Amino acid sequence: MSDETTERAPFRNPGWAGNTGEFELSEDEVRGRSYVGEHAPEGGHPSRVPTVPYMLPEKDPEAPLFEGPYAERFEKILSRYPNRRAALLPTLNLAQELRGRVSPETMAEVAQLLGLSDAYVRGVATFYTMYNKRPVGRYLIQVCTNVSCNLCGGDEVLAAFLEHTGTEAGEISDDGLFTVMEVECLAACGFPTAVQINSRYFENVTPDDVPAVLDRLREEAS
Ligand code: FES
Repeated sequence: MSDETTERAPFRNPGWAGNTGEFELSEDEVRGRSYVGEHAPEGGHPSRVPTVPYMLPEKDPEAPLFEGPYAERFEKILSRYPNRRAALLPTLNLAQELRGRVSPETMAEVAQLLGLSDAYVRGVATFYTMYNKRPVGRYLIQVCTNVSCNLCGGDEVLAAFLEHTGTEAGEISDDGLFTVMEVECLAACGFPTAVQINSRYFENVTPDDVPAVLDRLREEAS
């Protein structure tokens, strides 16, 4: 084999949204910079990385749908689908990214943008638990308690997040920073307990890790 073929290209995650030019985000912003557990901050399998920023700390519930770069992204989404109805899910994603949730008013606006009925959009948006119907804190902490994680202490990790944020599941903490939710499988079953915080995965999380994770988020937010 020639040197050319044996030489490994620098790791570039093909699923990283920044590669498409669609988002003005660095890979650090999409991936996060570090993880609880054994994974190194760089490298790893592309499947570990979300392709869109599921949830950003900054949310603007009053933001218009859509203006500026978000209007460009909306047009790009439309260009990828054969008709406007087919673009419903990514349009809802975009609205949630901007506003932090998909309220009934947002559903109605999306319906108007796509030429769909309110009932159709509401039926789709309420089917998926990943669309927040209620406001959430800057950091949405989703703790998996499905089979693998449950066997490895997922319930205890969930309890620790609730205790250390002083919240009940689904509430926003008094400082506005955190909402903790129990969720089904996050597709990181090999690294239980898996926790998704906004768009970032934390793996092999134990109850003892929880205070440090929250401290890090508080530091990021300050
Ligand atoms: S069971 Fe927790 S990530 Fe799959």
